[in-house]
Amino acid sequence: MALENGEVSKELLDSQAHIWNHIFSFINSMALKCAVELQIPDIINRHGSPMLLSELVEALGLKHERTHFVYRLMRILVHSDFFVKQSANNDEEEGEGYLLAPASRLLIKDEPLNLRSYLLGVLDPMLLDPWQHMSEWFRNDDVTPFYTTYGRMFWDLTTHEPKLNELFNEAMASDARLVTSVILKHCRGVFEGLDSIVDVGGGTGTVAKAIVEGFPDIRCICFDLPHVVNGLVGSKNLSYVSGDMFQAIPKAHAILLKWILHDWNDEECMKILKKCKEAIPSRENGGKLIIIDMVVKAHEGDNELLKTQLFFDMIMLTFLTGRERSEDDWAKLFLDVGFSNYKITPILGLRSLIEVYP
Ligand SMILES: C[S@@+](CC[C@H](N)C(=O)[O-])C[C@H]1O[C@@H](n2cnc3c(N)ncnc32)[C@H](O)[C@@H]1O
Repeated sequence: MALENGEVSKELLDSQAHIWNHIFSFINSMALKCAVELQIPDIINRHGSPMLLSELVEALGLKHERTHFVYRLMRILVHSDFFVKQSANNDEEEGEGYLLAPASRLLIKDEPLNLRSYLLGVLDPMLLDPWQHMSEWFRNDDVTPFYTTYGRMFWDLTTHEPKLNELFNEAMASDARLVTSVILKHCRGVFEGLDSIVDVGGGTGTVAKAIVEGFPDIRCICFDLPHVVNGLVGSKNLSYVSGDMFQAIPKAHAILLKWILHDWNDEECMKILKKCKEAIPSRENGGKLIIIDMVVKAHEGDNELLKTQLFFDMIMLTFLTGRERSEDDWAKLFLDVGFSNYKITPILGLRSLIEVYP
């Protein structure tokens, strides 16, 4: 490193580039957020063929003077694989036009599995603020950087801030729609033979609704905190129950925990898992837990997937008391609570489906 015989070493400049890349990584998120807010993916999708820059600017309803700035926004998004360029022409002009790349299909309003609310929720200033307080939190005794920022725990603030509650529930529902579509297509066996399920921390019921539609013989309870489920209306096989999973969980054949346990530390998870165990029948009678969560290093060798799992681990550190777990961490939790066995199916991209037996 450093200056050798007055010459700037390659290592020095590489280090500078590496640091710059990390300092400015937030621009990836912000450029994408800007495109979604402007509805660029929707406009390009509606156009139906490679869309020239001039056509895009016109469809966006922006002043002509903004053209070059739109070009620059699109350039970084093409570089990040959200759009691709292909030759295009119209009556007046020829050139290169923009098309959606596969990832931006998940950002259009007409796509039922879109992740728009997830993106807009996570990148809302209210949820970005706690990142500014991480180092302060390391030095104080607060439970989380979120607490340092707002003086309340996350679930406490969602109870008192309707905007945050709505933002968060919508973000979760958009994830739930996508995950459920994969599970109901590729993991139907997990639900076969069950007559009832409680979706613990089931949010506004996206997963529960899909289960009862896909399996008309299963009765489903969506169980969550009062401010999340109160006022929601169920259907023939779906009911909403409010409560606290640390106190008691309604009894059922199986319990679903999607993106619940990673929110909590090991001690808290053990309490939740004990309540789950009390609510289901024995293994011989078909009782089980169905967990959807990450197993860190499940994708060894794929650096981008591992990095994204580590991002989620930092999210848990910043907002909640939880963490992302390795298979050893999960196994220890299950065995400590007295479950006899578990099966991990890594079918959900970054996440896995984990069945746990009493
Ligand atoms: C990360 S979200 C997951 C939501 C949903 N399972 C999904 O994946 O779309 C966690 C959920 O747990 C709920 N929750 C938090 N504390 C709870 C408690 N003590 N009892 C019941 N639900 C709780 C939250 O309200 C929230 O809906």
